[in-house]
Amino acid sequence: MKLGSLNINGNLIMPAIAGYTDIGQRALAYRYGAALAFTEMISAKGLVYGSEHTEALLAVTDSEPVKGVQLFGSEPEFMFKAARHEAIAKFDIVDVNCGCPVPKIVSNGDGSALLKDIPKLKEVVAAAVEGASPRPVTVKMRLGFKAGEPVSPAAAAAAEEAGAVAITVHGRTREQYYSGEVDLNGIRETKLAVSIPVFANGDITDKASLERALEITGADGAAIARAAIGRPYIFSELNGVGVEVDPGALIKEHLGMLLTIYPERVAVDMMKKHVAAYAKGVRGGKAVKLKAFSAHNAADIYSAADMLTAASDFKQ
Ligand SMILES: Cc1cc2nc3c(=O)[nH]c(=O)nc-3n(C[C@H](O)[C@H](O)[C@H](O)COP(=O)(O)O)c2cc1C
Repeated sequence: MKLGSLNINGNLIMPAIAGYTDIGQRALAYRYGAALAFTEMISAKGLVYGSEHTEALLAVTDSEPVKGVQLFGSEPEFMFKAARHEAIAKFDIVDVNCGCPVPKIVSNGDGSALLKDIPKLKEVVAAAVEGASPRPVTVKMRLGFKAGEPVSPAAAAAAEEAGAVAITVHGRTREQYYSGEVDLNGIRETKLAVSIPVFANGDITDKASLERALEITGADGAAIARAAIGRPYIFSELNGVGVEVDPGALIKEHLGMLLTIYPERVAVDMMKKHVAAYAKGVRGGKAVKLKAFSAHNAADIYSAADMLTAASDFKQ
């Protein structure tokens, strides 16, 4: 499918997930059939001011066929400067976060707070489009800020007018956070308001929930976040390709990729929550998690991975 000038190989994407969509998670998502994967959200202001933390989040590898970065911020000037900053020149596509519900972000007017001020949202997206040009810009949003007050059709239309090439809509409001059911009809209303591609998002965990979401929303594709954590191979399942995966081997590969970029101490810390996710639902997984949480070095994570291989159903 085409997002502006950019071709992507399929219609299932992995959106930004703070603390999770690192280089390893993205490379594995691509291997198993994701068409596009984004970094976790990066502060436009932090990037412009050159924060060290931001630089570490911007690492990419050649195992990513398409390189996607997500920026957050509500000041058009910073969004413009961030989108054309040399540190993100390596990215092929820029996503603007208009959905983050976290109080620290919202209180600065960022993330889902932009849904309360659509003219501002439009200015911010326009600034990203200008800064990122000629690379395409996408927008990720929720249905609205307050429960029962959907604004995503108007917000998506404003984003399209500002030059966005696709919209991802999480079918909840900010007030709902992650509770309650995803409102697929709300996503459908958003889809009807624009002529650019729309990705439906929220609670897609298997083929049935994907098919239901696409059918009800009429969306062009879907974004899968939480279900891809610890299960990057979900994209194969959703694309109808059967795969047999050893989760322990994935842990080793994931850590191996992090070690190409980050110091061992940092990579090991980053892996702890991933190991917990890879071990989720496996009988004996608790011991694997405990092993990972007490890890001091890469060897400890490799031991946890071996424990998971032994505990899982996967047989070579
Ligand atoms: C821990 C966590 C971190 C997230 N970080 C981001 C983020 O950085 N940017 C963003 O646009 N959405 C973020 N999200 C939202 C997800 O991208 C997605 O919209 C949401 O989880 C619903 O999709 P799902 O049901 O497939 O998980 C985050 C979600 C979670 C649970």
